[in-house]
Amino acid sequence: MKVYELESLKMLTNADLKREAGVVAIEDIDLREVMNLVSSGQYASFDEVVITKQTPDDLLEKFSKEHLHEDDEVRYILSGYSIFDVRGSEDQWIRIEVSEKDFISVPARLYHRFFVPSKETKALRLFSDKEGWVPIYRETAGIVAEAEMV
Ligand code: LAC
Ligand code: NI
Repeated sequence: MKVYELESLKMLTNADLKREAGVVAIEDIDLREVMNLVSSGQYASFDEVVITKQTPDDLLEKFSKEHLHEDDEVRYILSGYSIFDVRGSEDQWIRIEVSEKDFISVPARLYHRFFVPSKETKALRLFSDKEGWVPIYRETAGIVAEAEMV
């Protein structure tokens, strides 16, 4: 996992990330520990999302446009590499590069966007309540998201 401010490239610690954006990010967690969270009742359900070269671009574009959810967005990366950008306290972008065994929880109502540059990743999605996961897009976010994609 690598966390930094997108504009200044200043590196941030996971504690900075928590303070700036309320995001919980943990490296190197075993699948077993994640499953314990589910069986302990912390999450109501989970599913697996698989992105491959065959995944249609319009699906990936839905993720890469700035949006929020009414519930936390919780992911555990099984394989591959992907990028979460989240808004910090000054509305600046904070980039979080995640890969295998990283766990991330983006709080409800925090604007974010998501990229998979290689189009190869597998992740678990953990839900408290599936209803809360509908994306709500930020106005005018789409163009910015495309221009800044790596
Ligand atoms: C989502 C991410 C990828 O909403 O932001 O699924
Ligand atoms: Ni999202």
